[in-house]
Amino acid sequence: MTAIAVTGKGGTGKTLVSALLIHFISKKSRKVLAVDADPDSNLSDALGVEVERTLGDVREIFQVSRDEMGTMNKEQWLEGKIYETICECNGFDLLVMGRPEGEGCYCFANSLLRGILRKLTRHYEFVIIDSEAGLEHFSRKTIDSADYVIVVTDMSKKGLATASRIKQLVKELKLNFKDIMLIANRISSEEAEKRIREFSEREKMKLLEVLPYDERVVELDLKGLPVVNLDESSEVYRRMRKVAEVFLKG
Ligand SMILES: Nc1ncnc2c1ncn2[C@@H]1O[C@H](COP(=O)(O)OP(=O)(O)OP(=O)(O)O)[C@@H](O)[C@H]1O
Ligand SMILES: [Mg+2]
Repeated sequence: MTAIAVTGKGGTGKTLVSALLIHFISKKSRKVLAVDADPDSNLSDALGVEVERTLGDVREIFQVSRDEMGTMNKEQWLEGKIYETICECNGFDLLVMGRPEGEGCYCFANSLLRGILRKLTRHYEFVIIDSEAGLEHFSRKTIDSADYVIVVTDMSKKGLATASRIKQLVKELKLNFKDIMLIANRISSEEAEKRIREFSEREKMKLLEVLPYDERVVELDLKGLPVVNLDESSEVYRRMRKVAEVFLKG
């Protein structure tokens, strides 16, 4: 199993990158699990699929009905509910994590969930995670099992600073990823591309791809259509296919 977590500053294009990776990889591999780990989830929209329930809902039900479970094995119960939550979509499965926990103690549910998720992901060839913006999930270690981290950044000072911080944090927390890589998005000039290449060398983060600002992406967005509806006429589409091929080749 190869797990790829996509992260970076808010609004940089994480969901766009995740959705296109899922799209291209699931064309070649039948065992893809897409995970929407952003509480403000919209990965399903980007993929053009509908999801009924999230893992957060399951955790809530678990919290309420724990006493009523009696002698039933709680882990089995949760495992069953998680399987029900997974959407069997067009060529891939999708799991939406949902809201962060509310009041009360969710430690027990969370530790069970982590174990079950670890077991579940073993059934897949690829697990692709659209992470929430920022760095919190790194300290909470929700994505401790990723092999590759893709940091999406634009040319903004904040975007680049977040990319540097992620690299630093991964080192501090001694997270064992095989690689942390960059995708630069909305890069519209040679000067910007040159600067991002310098940044990548300085930070020792491999630059996987440079994506331009793409009118075709804007068009779909305006029409409320999923980004996976892009086609050959889109440069972002063609370049993301190349990125997917890198992972497919292993
Ligand atoms: N290369 C591009 N060209 C034009 N528009 C783009 C490009 N990349 C992303 N966008 C647009 O920018 C917006 C943000 O992209 P996206 O939702 O993928 O970012 P995100 O990092 O997932 O955001 P969030 O942090 O809110 O989850 C979307 O409206 C998307 O259509
Ligand atoms: Mg997003």
